[in-house]
Formats: sequence, structure tokens, C-alpha cells
Amino acid sequence: MPLEKYQYMSDVWKDGIFDNKVVFCTGGAGSICSAQVRALVHLGANACIVGRNVPKTERMALDIATARPGAKVLGIGAVDVRKPESLVAAAERCVKELGGIDFVIAGAAGNFLAPISQLSANAMKSVIDIDILGSYNTVKATLPHLLTSAALHRTSGKTAPANGTGGRIVFVSATLHYAGTPLQSHVAVAKAGVDAMAVSVAIEQGPRGVTSNVIAPGPIAETEGVARLTKKEGRDKSAKAVPAGRFGTVKEIADATVYLFADSGNFVNGEVLVVDGGAWHTAGLG
Ligand code: HXC
Repeated sequence: MPLEKYQYMSDVWKDGIFDNKVVFCTGGAGSICSAQVRALVHLGANACIVGRNVPKTERMALDIATARPGAKVLGIGAVDVRKPESLVAAAERCVKELGGIDFVIAGAAGNFLAPISQLSANAMKSVIDIDILGSYNTVKATLPHLLTSAALHRTSGKTAPANGTGGRIVFVSATLHYAGTPLQSHVAVAKAGVDAMAVSVAIEQGPRGVTSNVIAPGPIAETEGVARLTKKEGRDKSAKAVPAGRFGTVKEIADATVYLFADSGNFVNGEVLVVDGGAWHTAGLG
């Protein structure tokens, strides 16, 4: 391979690619989101994770901070994404203490198994409120800061930015609404709404330098999603049914996040990146 091509690649994938960047993440104490944030911190970022549970969020922040000597990771508990004022306060604290917000991960979600016949209107509303309204509230609270970051990192469009990236959103969605999943009507509706919002944000804010994409994880080992949605005794069989022959890992979702936030994702906007080992294509075959 010619040397200049190799150098270009190494500009994208290297230690410190997220030096001086700040990521703001909702649902940050969860297994998938904490792995996403940990990867970004490992590669240089500082972070603010928010969640409803105070001790869990604060403990996770301390744990993520061990990913890199000198990392600053704020853990702000008692933040319910359904309450815009608590998100605005958290975003302002993040900017005050860490200097800005370059990346947002909208990861807070609600889930349980229930047939629609047993689902109360309030149960349906709770999941829609956490997923859709929560994602909207997250975008509203952070967009001014993302626009500031995007303005700092804008380029002519002809070359990759020399000083890294900024003004990026990743929504964490799912694949269960592509083919229909029993006991998940509430989540299917909510995740479809999140996907739609991501595309609208992408085309609306793209001209101002902000990118907005979705990561749709499939079944990921050792996550709350798999624990809630599958029975322990059937898990080996479910894992073998994935075309990849196994469940995914949280690292694989983190790697997809790095791809979207690094220069590698500069021209990716309004997309859903499915990371599921091919699982959803086989939905309905089992
Ligand atoms: C039927 C249920 C229920 C259940 C709650 N409800 N659990 N209905 N079956 N198992 C109903 C309640 O009875 C109530 O309706 C309404 O939902 C609201 O419940 P609350 O407990 O008051 O709400 P709240 O405390 O806000 O909790 C929200 C929640 C809860 C969504 C219900 O599960 C939650 O907090 N989840 C957050 C964490 C989480 O789910 N993480 C998993 C993400 S995994 P009534 O009518 O009685 O008032 C994920 C993976 C997706 O998203 C895809 C993976 C492949």
C-alpha cells in the first residue's frame, strides 16, 4: 500500500483521536452505553453520563474514568429524560465543568415484555415517553452546544478536519421493529419514532455541521436487554440462531460508535447502522 494512503488511515484510527472532546450520554450507566462511553474516554474524550439512579450513575462514572489516566467523567444522577429541565441542567453542568459537548449518545430506554392485550395506556406511554420524548429532550438540551462544536470543526468539505470532529449525535435504537416482535409493541413503536427523529435531525441540522445517526444493536451478551427479553435456558439456542453464530459484545457496539464519531464517520448522516451479526434478517425463520 502506498505510504500516503497508510498515513491517511492512521489519521483516522489512532490513540488520542478524541483528545479534548466531550461526550454527553443518557442511559450512561447501562451496559451498552457505558461501553460506548468507555471506548471514547479510552481514546481521549472526557464524558458526562446521566441516569435516573444516583449511586449507579456515580459508580459507573468512577469506573469509566479508569479507562484513561487523567480522564474526567461526570456522573449526574436523578436525571429523568422525560423531564426536560433536568436534562438542560445536566447539559449546562457538563459544559461548565468539561468545556462543551462535542458528541451526544441518546441511549436511555425503557423495556419490558408484555402482550398488547396486557399493556395499559400508561405502560405504552411510559416507554414512548422515555424513548421518543427522552431522545427529543436530549437533542433539545444539547443542540446549542453541538452547534458550537460543529462550527469549530467545520471544513470546506474538501478535506477531513485537521482537528477532529464535533457536533455528532448517535441514538441507540433496536432492530425489533423491522419484522415485528411479540410482546414488544410499545418498544417497536418507540424505536421506530427514534429512528425517524434521527433522520429528521440529520437533514435539518446537517447543513449546520451536525450529524445524526442511529446504532441498532441486535442481541448483545450480558446486557439488560438480553436479560429482560430472553430466558436464561434458551440463550445458547438463540445465540446459535444468529447468522454470526453468537450474540454480540458491548465492545462491538462501542467500536461502531467510534466509527461514527471519528473522521471515518464524516460523511455518514441520517443512517441506521445495524450491529447484529445479521440477526434481524432471520426474524420469523425460527
Ligand atoms: C406490563 C408494565 C410492566 C410489565 C411496568 N409496566 N412494567 N406493564 N408488564 N412488565 C407498566 C406499569 O404497570 C405502569 O402502568 C407503567 O408501565 C409505568 O410503570 P412505572 O413503573 O410507573 O414506570 P417507570 O418507573 O417510569 O418505569 C419505566 C419502565 C421500566 C419502562 C416501566 O421498565 C424502566 O424504568 N425501565 C428502564 C430501564 C430499562 O428498561 N432498561 C432496558 C433497556 S433494554 P400502569 O397502567 O399500571 O400505571 C432495551 C433493549 C431493547 O431497551 C432491544 C434489545 C434487543
